[in-house]
Amino acid sequence: VKTTVALTVNGERVERAVDSDTTLLRFLREDLSLVGTKNGCEKGHCGTCTVIVDGEAKRSCLIKMGRADGMNVQTIESLGGNHPIQEAFLAEGAVQCGFCTPGMVLAAKALLDKNPAPSAADVKTALKNNLCRCTGYAAIERAVLRASRTLRGEPVPDGSILAIATVRPRGPAAAARPAGSGVGVSAVRKDGPAKVAGAGVFADDLPAHAPLIGKLLFSEHAHARIISLDVSEASASEGVELVLTAADVPGRNAFGLFVPQQPVLCADEVMYLGDVVAAVFARTREQAEAARAKIRVVYEVLPARMDPEANFAPSAPLFHPDTENNVVHHVAVRKGDAAAGFEQADVIVEGVYETQAVEHAYLEPEAGLAVPDGSGGVAVWTGNQGSEEYRDMIAESLAVPKEKVRVVLTACGGGFGGKEEPAGQIHAALAALKTGKSAKVVLTREESIRTSTKRHPMRIRMRHGATKDGRIVAMTSRVIADAGAYISQSKPVIFRSAVTATGPYAVESVEADSYGIYTHKNPSGAFRGFGSTQASFACEIQMDKLARALDMSPVELRRKNGFREGSITSTGQKLMDGIGYLDTLDAVSTALESMRAEFASRPEVPGKKIGFGVASAYKNVGIGTGLSDHAGAIAELLPSGRLSVRTGAADIGQGSDTLAAQIAAEVLGFPYDLIDVTACDTAVSPDGGMTTGSRQTFVTGNAVKGAAEKLRESLGPYLPAAPAAPEAYRAAYEAARAARAKTRADFTYYPPKTSPHRVHSDPKPGSAGEAHHGIHYSYCFASAVVAVEVDTETGAVKVLKVAAAQDVGRALNPASVRGQIEGAVAMGIGYALSEEFLANETTVLTDSLHKLGVPKIADLPPIDCIIVEDPQTAGPFGAKGIGEVGLNPIAPAISNAIFDAVGVRIQTLPMKKEKVREALALVRKS
Ligand code: FES
Ligand code: FES
Repeated sequence: VKTTVALTVNGERVERAVDSDTTLLRFLREDLSLVGTKNGCEKGHCGTCTVIVDGEAKRSCLIKMGRADGMNVQTIESLGGNHPIQEAFLAEGAVQCGFCTPGMVLAAKALLDKNPAPSAADVKTALKNNLCRCTGYAAIERAVLRASRTLRGEPVPDGSILAIATVRPRGPAAAARPAGSGVGVSAVRKDGPAKVAGAGVFADDLPAHAPLIGKLLFSEHAHARIISLDVSEASASEGVELVLTAADVPGRNAFGLFVPQQPVLCADEVMYLGDVVAAVFARTREQAEAARAKIRVVYEVLPARMDPEANFAPSAPLFHPDTENNVVHHVAVRKGDAAAGFEQADVIVEGVYETQAVEHAYLEPEAGLAVPDGSGGVAVWTGNQGSEEYRDMIAESLAVPKEKVRVVLTACGGGFGGKEEPAGQIHAALAALKTGKSAKVVLTREESIRTSTKRHPMRIRMRHGATKDGRIVAMTSRVIADAGAYISQSKPVIFRSAVTATGPYAVESVEADSYGIYTHKNPSGAFRGFGSTQASFACEIQMDKLARALDMSPVELRRKNGFREGSITSTGQKLMDGIGYLDTLDAVSTALESMRAEFASRPEVPGKKIGFGVASAYKNVGIGTGLSDHAGAIAELLPSGRLSVRTGAADIGQGSDTLAAQIAAEVLGFPYDLIDVTACDTAVSPDGGMTTGSRQTFVTGNAVKGAAEKLRESLGPYLPAAPAAPEAYRAAYEAARAARAKTRADFTYYPPKTSPHRVHSDPKPGSAGEAHHGIHYSYCFASAVVAVEVDTETGAVKVLKVAAAQDVGRALNPASVRGQIEGAVAMGIGYALSEEFLANETTVLTDSLHKLGVPKIADLPPIDCIIVEDPQTAGPFGAKGIGEVGLNPIAPAISNAIFDAVGVRIQTLPMKKEKVREALALVRKS
């Protein structure tokens, strides 16, 4: 129903005839082009669309324009970019991907307008409807409190209002230097100012001039044969310009980073609910949706085989005709003789552990805009984790040379592994090529959840044996991982679940086998932690069991067996440098003592029990295993006096652009503010490989360092001796050009060579090949302690406090490092207690952010972060990757704490209250 509404938006009166069912969110974004207001779900679950309406923070997706008449609406654009709240978000490092940021800033403003001196609890209440998947909320809470101080006229420190704790047992002393001048300081993110102002451009924000909007038709069944597909009615529908089916894919009708196995458009068979059957492109979204509903698909429903164990059987029907069995990948690790090891053991513990499928829940759903170039090529703007890889996959499907496809990274609203492979971008590119018109595909939240990859669910059987004095002499691990319908990234994930199964401990004999098995479920893919997260859950509960069986403190058991320089891993790698594991353990051990003292002084609450748990983890940095791994960088002094740094590292919120600028600033003594970073535009950027495996700090960091060092060689004589004003750099450019000195340097960094995995490692020190058998060039380490409170009636578990320590080599940007740790802890708490992706043969059961159990600000306890700096020689300034490992200790530490509190072992995730309650009831009965 059309209605005329008159409202005030950012101080200006707006009068429009609108559909009364249109939401305020759509009106702001599509009619007024106020795209700072984000669309993360359109269901009221994420808060990214928050605006201020008549003085109150409101989710604009829940307001229908039919009731907007007379409203006074304030969007992020009204704040400019220098409001104290925005400045506080920058100062506290509260911006990562930035997709939640405009909504957070406005929710904070609505609070502070009314309550100038809020408590931390008030902040939590005010932000209760706003999700953030990156920061763990801690920095956001600090930012709001900081802004309140500023607005009250109180002084605030230059750095964070909460000092960053750093343990630096062997690292070089930090150089005292002004913020932003190089490495080791918490420089404000390069993309921060735009993101706090709502001016960060995500793919769906690109001018709504795309003449064609695409909608994908997904399978209705987890497994079915396509008997017929009739698109005639849809094709004839109003506004429709193209309907794509499998027959329209000119090139390879399959994509996948390692093995192109997943159809772009299914021809004969659907293998999970997120398979795409057709794509409709029309002049409006409504037209595309209406036409999609007219596509007729006749399916012959086939048995959906959802159980990986059953599909493992040699007699099980094959999922893919070109495979011999349903095993996607099997990785075996053998060190020493495990059977003999168990013979020596005085104590043996074992268990079966189950982890669940988890949705990445990046707040920006997948989106891509494809623009034809008029000469048979296409450019695609999209958030992604590797533009080169996207380009290659798109070119293959379009059957055009790679050079005809350009992929440009937009701001990316989170990835966590889930944006390593395309979702909708190939369809958009195909439509652009076929119609000669720009085409855009933006997934709704439900579509994103339906089609995207998930974390591998795993069933892990683990057994450990130790001598009386706590020496771990043997362990076995057997992992059955649910790989879903297509390979995606299962191979490396399965691999890591096997090679990290020992945890960060030098176990004398190891027998680990991991299998990935096909099922008719969402493909399991890359997800922060990459297989090591699941292995950590099992291993670290085993450590707790072992310590108790030995009557030893869990910290002491870990200290006794923990990796140190010279330790040999299960794959036969002798660890050489940058092995800061024990420092992380010591740090959390101290924190545990303080935590115990803190909670001991609290009066006991009837029906509530408090417990403490410890866990640790290690994970590789980079790709390793003898595979190609490199990254390029270009540094160039421009006539304007600014320094351009180009990399191939996708900044998905983790801050790689900022690090690139800091590293260049450090090497060249160049002012950080005069450095511009361009990343992941395949037309102008060098190849940086994927943002995966915690690798970009190490590889792209070293590439930028190399390029800047080369540039320093040629420009050294002309650059100012100390950071100076822009005109000094313009003069330097002129002088260098006059002297024919190079103003641009390219550098490709190749990390230390690694070896392929071999099943049988050779653990004998000094034996031939030992030193050469490094499957990874770097590892990162983390430990955490948690305090939980368990309700003995309901089984509800509340995390009261977390202390998390992580060895990062060197913190190039401490605020950014802390942000990664806090974000990882928050994700770990969700993984432990609430998050789960569930689907059956016909329905995605958890089709919203709410049903998925993504943690909200109130679910997060105070998090003490401890940065451990144990420099890695080959890393840039000693740094190594930081993005993933902090997640791993959280779920097992919580499980261990539950046991400490109430004496029940919860070995399946998520540890929801019903599960704990049942376990408690069982114990009571027995
Ligand atoms: S878009 Fe409105 S709450 Fe998510
Ligand atoms: S910074 Fe909050 S969702 Fe990414």
